[in-house]
Amino acid sequence: MVPGERLVSSRAKKVTTHVLQEMKRSGEKIAMLTAYDYSLARLVDGAGVDVILVGDSASNVMAGNDTTVPITLDHMIYHAQCVVNAVDRALVVVDMPFGSYQGDSKLALKSAIRIMKESGGHAVKIEGGTEIVDSIKRILTAGIPVMGHLGLTPQSIYKFGTYSVRAKEEEEAGKLMEDARALQDAGCFSIVFEKIPADLAKRVSESLDIPTIGIGAGADCDGQVLVLHDMLGITKDFSPRFLRRYADLGEAVDGAVKGYIEDVRKGDFPSEEESY
Ligand code: KIV
Repeated sequence: MVPGERLVSSRAKKVTTHVLQEMKRSGEKIAMLTAYDYSLARLVDGAGVDVILVGDSASNVMAGNDTTVPITLDHMIYHAQCVVNAVDRALVVVDMPFGSYQGDSKLALKSAIRIMKESGGHAVKIEGGTEIVDSIKRILTAGIPVMGHLGLTPQSIYKFGTYSVRAKEEEEAGKLMEDARALQDAGCFSIVFEKIPADLAKRVSESLDIPTIGIGAGADCDGQVLVLHDMLGITKDFSPRFLRRYADLGEAVDGAVKGYIEDVRKGDFPSEEESY
């Protein structure tokens, strides 16, 4: 296939997990972005992204927390409802927040059902490897599609201690491969690889039947994901090497707000035409 050519996803009226599987099979790359609110999700979906992730990065981007740990299930459901209201085509995947699934597969199922029922999302994403396989299997018994997340898993930041690249050493790389296989065998429809070496992501992606989505994991994953506010240049204090900025909305907003303040102060706004 010619790079950049869109076959499967442009034909798909609505993107489903089956469409993503078909995209992997045909070599068409999957484009995924985060969104947390109606207005931006409407733009992102209209532009043709395949998957919208209601990420628990909302904790950082929307709420200003240092980590993803504080965001709650109720918060995630609220953000997901806003996104679902906006979306016509993309698959909406909702992050299961910290504390809503770890160590208790019954709790995991209950949390996933709440997400699906109350938000209208299409799938859930869950961080971790073999240790959460029971939860994944139980969620799948309710017919809820599950996306995995390996490598840098931000909900475990207090265990890792840093946001640096994961699985650089052989032992951790081996564990990641084992985890990826376990998630596929458990029934995940896709896995996110965050901040791992490109050659490891390539090897694992090639060895799996399900699509992999990379963030800081090189070009050979089956798709890519970025945090919307980072790639739009709204967040300024986060510049990891993997981040490509496609716009500088931070500057644009600053200029617009300063222009407005100036016009108000000068008495230039509103004009006669803008008045009744
Ligand atoms: O929460 C999030 O935005 C994520 C992506 C970084 C994959 O999990």
